[in-house]
Amino acid sequence: MTRVEVSLKKLEDRSYTIHIGYKCLDRLCEILSEIPLNSVFVITDRNVEKLWAGKIIALLEKRFPYRGLISVEPGEEQKNLLTIKKLARKLVSMKADRASTIIAVGGGVIGDIAGFLASIFLRGVSFINIPTTLLAQVDSSVGGKTGVDLPEGKNLVGTFYQPVLVFADVDFLSTLPHEEFLNGMSEVIKYGIIMDTEFFTFLESNVEKILEKEPDILIKIVSQSCKLKREIVEKDEKEAGLRRILNFGHTIGHSIEAASNYRIKHGWAVSMGMVAASHLALEYGMTEPEEVKRIENLIDRFGLPVCVPEDLTADEIVQGLTYDKKMVDSKLRWILPTKIGSVNVVEGIKTDDVINVLRRLKGR
Ligand SMILES: NC(=O)c1ccc[n+]([C@@H]2O[C@H](COP(=O)([O-])OP(=O)(O)OC[C@H]3O[C@@H](n4cnc5c(N)ncnc54)[C@H](O)[C@@H]3O)[C@@H](O)[C@H]2O)c1
Ligand SMILES: [Zn+2]
Repeated sequence: MTRVEVSLKKLEDRSYTIHIGYKCLDRLCEILSEIPLNSVFVITDRNVEKLWAGKIIALLEKRFPYRGLISVEPGEEQKNLLTIKKLARKLVSMKADRASTIIAVGGGVIGDIAGFLASIFLRGVSFINIPTTLLAQVDSSVGGKTGVDLPEGKNLVGTFYQPVLVFADVDFLSTLPHEEFLNGMSEVIKYGIIMDTEFFTFLESNVEKILEKEPDILIKIVSQSCKLKREIVEKDEKEAGLRRILNFGHTIGHSIEAASNYRIKHGWAVSMGMVAASHLALEYGMTEPEEVKRIENLIDRFGLPVCVPEDLTADEIVQGLTYDKKMVDSKLRWILPTKIGSVNVVEGIKTDDVINVLRRLKGR
């Protein structure tokens, strides 16, 4: 087992541990037996229910006060307030109380829904996260952001709410569709670019092993990603400043996702966004061509995109930037790489320069 300790010592101690291993479900029982559990409810989606949640429930039933399963249809469409209301009512009908624990078993959608529900149900019940996608293991399960979408935009309603523990078995990834795996890889590559040269080099040396899902290598990339995100979240839990660097590739990425009507998946859009941000950095003399080349090469070797889709215009993409909710005081802050392992937060990037970069990335 690899353990990543996350400490958030402020007014009250909400520190928790992320447990990472391979084929380690038996360890889950030991870990759960160390915390007080009164009544346990599992929230999952129908895909994960068949693949993994059933196995976890079988374990829970043996040794813990397991009270029931709530399964939602898979997909981002479920991440809304109506689902929260339905699930809350279901919990009431199943007699959940303030001493209950909600366990999320699923990807980022389930983690965000169940975490948000746990944070507001009876003004907050205990929450355990068992992430089953790469994206959820390396990103959404770390940092305590929960929430749902509104018709006006993604993640517009939510809370900061920390789980009691996170349990990530990389064996879950064996059933993950390849596309979903790559979706998470885009965030893994991001961590290397923004803050860890050595990790980036490790990724460069292990592309094939990662794609073959070698357990030891998966444990390494999940645990290192959690450690890196942990480092940022510990310093800036509520996104006052530093946490912004996690948004590298996401400024243009979110715009591309939205402009494509979410036809382009998050990880793909973020990859395009990371390449575009790297070219912008080059344009402003902040980085060197060799650094940009390395970033592009790694993204490309994983089969993620390094160019902008032909059917989206640069103007369309740039229009979306204005609505990015990460804007502060109407100023767009760009996260641009200087060299592999470090980024700068920059204001005052000219729209024309962004358009030129996007046009160039389309025509190759
Ligand atoms: N809270 C945060 O800090 C944070 C950070 C990043 C992303 N997110 C959110 O995460 C969500 C995306 O998460 P995601 O990419 O995990 O998507 P997801 O939860 O929709 O999962 C993707 C698909 O994979 C299936 N799946 C899950 N685990 C599986 C497994 N082990 N085997 C086979 N299939 C499996 C799911 O049923 C689903 O169809 C978005 O809503 C995003 O906003 C939140
Ligand atoms: Zn992301």
